[in-house]
Amino acid sequence: MNRLEGKVALVTGGASVPGLGSSTAQRFAEEGAIVYVTDRDDAGAETVAGGIRAAGGKAHAMAHDVTSEADWDRVMAAITAAHGGLDVLVNNAGIAVLRMIEDLTSADWALQNRVNLDSVFYGTRRAVLAMRKAGRGGSIINISSVAGLVGVPGCAAYAAAKGGVRLFSKVIAVECAKDRIRCNSVHPGMIATNMQGVALEDNASNYDATLALIPMGIMGEPVDIANMNLFLASDEARYITGAEFVVDGGMFAT
Ligand SMILES: NC(=O)c1ccc[n+]([C@@H]2O[C@H](COP(=O)([O-])OP(=O)(O)OC[C@H]3O[C@@H](n4cnc5c(N)ncnc54)[C@H](O)[C@@H]3O)[C@@H](O)[C@H]2O)c1
Repeated sequence: MNRLEGKVALVTGGASVPGLGSSTAQRFAEEGAIVYVTDRDDAGAETVAGGIRAAGGKAHAMAHDVTSEADWDRVMAAITAAHGGLDVLVNNAGIAVLRMIEDLTSADWALQNRVNLDSVFYGTRRAVLAMRKAGRGGSIINISSVAGLVGVPGCAAYAAAKGGVRLFSKVIAVECAKDRIRCNSVHPGMIATNMQGVALEDNASNYDATLALIPMGIMGEPVDIANMNLFLASDEARYITGAEFVVDGGMFAT
């Protein structure tokens, strides 16, 4: 019940239900964290935060476009003013621009990398500065993908961003280890969220083929990623940094 007691956490992209961000925010709050649920969908973020409060947790919602440095400044200023620092950042917000290389435009490439990679830099840099100033360490959890580890057709831009997130996380881990600021990447396989629903709708005939790629034979649930994020956010993971965590029902093992 109290694995995150006393910690202040920011989860980006937390409006989507079912989504990895909303599930993570719920699990964090269940374990005692004060959670900031942010999203460009501010009404959705408020619904998620309100649900957490109704269940007895501590949550706030903020409008936040992760591609906007001004938004990052506003969100971080509000959190640090209220709590003197930030303990956990989950860079979760993302989109999936999935096209084969012949159909991938420069605009697709720029958008994908702006939302899924530039945003992780913006947020991580600000979190590191705030965590160093507060002097109480911290945990930064960057949501990558199995598509950031192996080549998946149709994922050129997505994989470039997610692969970038993976190695960026390791550099931050090394640069910040002495400050007790940990940074790890999480690599979900196929998890049943709104994002995955859209991808499958776009390519419904691939559904069975996709499931066949998963040794467990089922998609993961958002809480499967939320529980990994919870572990990494908690002091149970105090000696873990610069590592990558695959949560995929065995897909990456084949
Ligand atoms: N679902 C999966 O199978 C899966 C697999 C691997 C990685 N991921 C990654 O996990 C993360 C969460 O994915 P999900 O499946 O929950 O997706 P989702 O589409 O259900 O939720 C993503 C959320 O991000 C928000 N968002 C998008 N662009 C934003 C922006 N510019 N600023 C702020 N918020 C923004 C959306 O409004 C939405 O609430 C993403 O980074 C995704 O790439 C998901």
